[in-house]
Amino acid sequence: MAIEFAALPLPPSADPSKFNDFGREVKGLQPGALTDEQFKEIEQALYKHGVLLFRNADVTPEQQYLLTKKFDPQSESYGHGNNKTGSTKKSILHPDLKTIPSVPQVQLIGNGTVYNHWGLEEAKLKHPSHVTFHKTVVSPEEEAQGATRFYRWHIDAALYDLNPPRVTSLYGITVPQGPEQVCKYDDGTGDELPVPLGTTAFVSGKTMFDILPKEYKSLAVRTKVVYAPHPYVWMAPARAMSTGLGIETEGLELSLDELPPWEKEKIKTLPVLWKNPATGGLHFQVHPCGARKLVIDALPDGASKEGALYPEGAHITDLGEVRGILYKMQRPAIAPPLVYPHNWSEKDLVLFHNRGVLHTVVGAFKQETVRAFHQCNLAASDEPAGPSSEDVKAFA
Ligand SMILES: [Fe+2]
Repeated sequence: MAIEFAALPLPPSADPSKFNDFGREVKGLQPGALTDEQFKEIEQALYKHGVLLFRNADVTPEQQYLLTKKFDPQSESYGHGNNKTGSTKKSILHPDLKTIPSVPQVQLIGNGTVYNHWGLEEAKLKHPSHVTFHKTVVSPEEEAQGATRFYRWHIDAALYDLNPPRVTSLYGITVPQGPEQVCKYDDGTGDELPVPLGTTAFVSGKTMFDILPKEYKSLAVRTKVVYAPHPYVWMAPARAMSTGLGIETEGLELSLDELPPWEKEKIKTLPVLWKNPATGGLHFQVHPCGARKLVIDALPDGASKEGALYPEGAHITDLGEVRGILYKMQRPAIAPPLVYPHNWSEKDLVLFHNRGVLHTVVGAFKQETVRAFHQCNLAASDEPAGPSSEDVKAFA
């Protein structure tokens, strides 16, 4: 029997014409108990729609891990590596993740203190907040009125040594309810987005590419991003932009010799556009915070040079310029009408195509508010595929 899919409920802020293919609720299935045949259909649906929601899911950490692994059977370790070594303690991700002892690929994330949780006697959790990451912050007065920010737009990926996971699963176990907040962009545009408390916000990487003007499509299809070694350690002293879509260029990043030991061979150089394995579509998948350099290919033979950006190709090593180019291409896609803020209910299991969407934590909780989620993603067995030579010809 075919699986029943329904559209995700869009908020009034969203432009429905931009969400035709984006996101589906899967009806009547327990995600922890899929047959192989059902899984195949779910896999294709996830790559096609980017985000799948199962409501009222009952999923143990083991089942969540096994489901996530099904998308990449050869993958094994957590997306950032299973073992937290001394060097990762300096990483900005370190305080946000608590490993489930019996299933180290699954992380407990959330807020407040959780007791006797799958082998964790006591876990103190802290919902990541823009206050500790952005250069500027929402004033206490505004915050009291419900103003907040996107924390950090990203792909789940170590961006060094390990390959970006194909899929992330997020399972809401304790989901505090509360008044809506207003996410401020504070970038001079006046943009703001009403969001459910503690939403996870998603945008489509395909839309991010599709809405670019022709000259930027040509640039995107020809460009690769070189990420910093140990990017989350590298960026730790730096401060993010008010939209959470990258880092302010103030020279605060660690220098490469201040980083934990690293090897040149483990540095990740990934295409700007990642090819969807089900649809062949191109998704703009850049983690702007970790980007350090851009490598731009020249236009292919026969392509028109009129209006072309970097027609002869370029290696861009100036961090401000790298970030400026990426921001110009990514900012349009996080405009309020293009954001899907998921309104979490308890027992929601969300699967997202980590190679097809970008996402961010949003909002702020009171210190004592308890929120508990399980998150799983696995460092992939392969690198994402970039544009084909036909894609380059079509868009360059
Ligand atoms: Fe994430």
